[in-house]
Amino acid sequence: MKGVGIGIIGLGNVGGGTLTILAENAAEIARKLGFPLRVAAVCSRHPQAKTLPAGLGPALVTSDWREVVAHPEVEIVAELVGGTSVAAEIVEAALRAGKSVVTANKELVALRGVELYHLAERHGAALAMEASVCGGIPIHAVLREGIAGDRIEALFGILNGTSNYILTEIEQRGAPFAEVLQEAQRLGYAEADPAADVDGWDARSKLALLASLAFGVRLEPSAIPTEGIRRVSPTDFEYARQLGCTIRLLCSARRAEGGLFVSVRPALLPLDTIMAGVRGAYNAVWVRGAFGADTFYYGRGAGPLPTGVAVVSDLMRVARGLRPAPAHRVPPFAASTLEPADPLPIGRQQRPWYLRFRIKDRPGIIRDLATILARQSISIDAVLQLPGQDKQNLPFVITLESSPEAAVRAALEEMQALDFMVEPPLAMPIERGI
Ligand SMILES: NC(=O)c1ccc[n+]([C@@H]2O[C@H](COP(=O)([O-])OP(=O)(O)OC[C@H]3O[C@@H](n4cnc5c(N)ncnc54)[C@H](OP(=O)(O)O)[C@@H]3O)[C@@H](O)[C@H]2O)c1
Repeated sequence: MKGVGIGIIGLGNVGGGTLTILAENAAEIARKLGFPLRVAAVCSRHPQAKTLPAGLGPALVTSDWREVVAHPEVEIVAELVGGTSVAAEIVEAALRAGKSVVTANKELVALRGVELYHLAERHGAALAMEASVCGGIPIHAVLREGIAGDRIEALFGILNGTSNYILTEIEQRGAPFAEVLQEAQRLGYAEADPAADVDGWDARSKLALLASLAFGVRLEPSAIPTEGIRRVSPTDFEYARQLGCTIRLLCSARRAEGGLFVSVRPALLPLDTIMAGVRGAYNAVWVRGAFGADTFYYGRGAGPLPTGVAVVSDLMRVARGLRPAPAHRVPPFAASTLEPADPLPIGRQQRPWYLRFRIKDRPGIIRDLATILARQSISIDAVLQLPGQDKQNLPFVITLESSPEAAVRAALEEMQALDFMVEPPLAMPIERGI
């Protein structure tokens, strides 16, 4: 089937990530769609200063976005410029030309999204905006489709990665807000003008959008009571800890009699909740449904590649709508054909290991076990033994450096036969990278 032509306007963080994925993941994308996505035109203010990823194929490169919108091969325009002026012109011009639009622009869609959606409808085009909230978390798709059958009672979110990074740094290091902000700016985690992030405005645009999806309402971002994190100090974290809590910039929307309570403000959260464990630049959304109860979504809130995934997934969704529909517009197994595959032999997998023994104690036990491990070229990481245990049924642990499972299994087999073993050793991989 003929490919769908894409025009990308904005080649910054998100535009760059999107192009990388379109180039490097082209085969997988075509396999899932049944046809390729082809980048027909790209645009930024200074396109000559950009290096486009290899493997994209020939494309119009321009500094005039109108040329992208007018390009006859461009069927979907990705607006990845940001702001509410040029971006709005681009989106409107594309929709008026009957071309579908994918955007990552939370500010624009929070302010004018409904109006743009109606414009799209009038011109038979689609408007897709997954990347506009929580870049790496497909929360739009979840609210729009995944749990559409539920009635949402409440939605809580940590929706701004910069302020979450700053709060968790204050929490962990006890450093004051101004010092942590300066460091975040030096490391590129915070903008030179941090107001949108630390004063909660970015988060409130995102909450307005999520509330629309969750509750079917239209909320002006400026109507949401909003308070930033500038006044939260290390002392507040100390007091919060005494109360068994931590502090996060919490976006909250909950149904109540007669309407919705919505707010963006720092809040105390019990340490044993899943939300309190969201640290650094991560985002999370917690949704409470009347029927399906609680669901939780977690991931990177920003970044060229996580946000690029959201943009490319939207491009795929919209592209599907532009080609004749098969019986399943989205195949239930994601791809239309599945390659037969056997799992790799698990023995080849390398992991660090935890081995727990129960033994009848006598001298030379560690030496015997270490000899067996050395024969399999396995290195010991640590030996652990709790004091005051029964010497006739003595538990102790050896942890191993990352080793092939086949070698560990062979060593365990040999160890099992040793006369001091009370029971076969218990072996568990240590999954530190999860
Ligand atoms: N960064 C993230 O992780 C992230 C996450 C989620 C959503 N978003 C949203 O994604 C959008 C883009 O963000 P970004 O971080 O990628 O911004 P960015 O790095 O500043 O990139 C913006 C791009 O737009 C281009 N541009 C600006 N004015 C233009 C014009 N008049 N004509 C053509 N091109 C123009 C710039 O061109 P030059 O480079 O040539 O100057 C640049 O390539 C924003 O709406 C943002 O809120 C970003």
